[in-house]
Amino acid sequence: MKFFIDTANIKEIEEINQLGLVDGVTTNPSLIYKSGKDFKEVIKDISEIVSGPISAEVTSTNFDNMVEQGYELSKIAKNIVIKVPLTEAGLKACRILSSKNIHVNVTLCFSSSQAILAAKMGATYISPFIGRLDDISQQGISLIKDIVQIYKNYNQTFKTQVLVASIRSPLQISSAASIGAHVATIPPKIIKQMMNHPLTDTGLESFMKDWEKTGQKF
Ligand code: E4P
Repeated sequence: MKFFIDTANIKEIEEINQLGLVDGVTTNPSLIYKSGKDFKEVIKDISEIVSGPISAEVTSTNFDNMVEQGYELSKIAKNIVIKVPLTEAGLKACRILSSKNIHVNVTLCFSSSQAILAAKMGATYISPFIGRLDDISQQGISLIKDIVQIYKNYNQTFKTQVLVASIRSPLQISSAASIGAHVATIPPKIIKQMMNHPLTDTGLESFMKDWEKTGQKF
């Protein structure tokens, strides 16, 4: 499973990148707002740190503007992926940009029928938002299971990768990995949480105490 980092915060990207855990980055207008930086500048800055795919989201709901912004954003660096919303205009933009060999991430996916359309439009990634489904008491992970299965059924024609988005917990990542999702885009805080286990802490503490008791130096 590939790990994308779901942030536009340069310090966070650098920190996780140093751990060797960044296969790519995803951003959205809310994350750009949080970063407090200029949109195109921050995308450029990220592209200087990360060589894997970097999703930059269009900021218009109009088809022509989406395509125009897609072309402009894709010129920032060769690893830019254009993120478009799962609307009729977004799907049309996906088809046009994909036909020009620009990678597209179709975002705000909440149903498997939407995911089928994105695959038919040649999307490189589909981003189902599982946390937002869980938030309204619907099983986000069931959606991932359905999409992974549908794409497998048509693997000769559907080349779209399932990019699990809106992740809120480590458990969602292992559940998505166990059913074969290709990518998870993860907030930095959750990457840190993935490392933790109380039995690791207590086990290490007792090993260190016993090592001290040996009186040996190393
Ligand atoms: C990433 O591509 C998505 O925009 C992001 O994961 C959404 O996360 P949220 O539901 O926590 O805002």
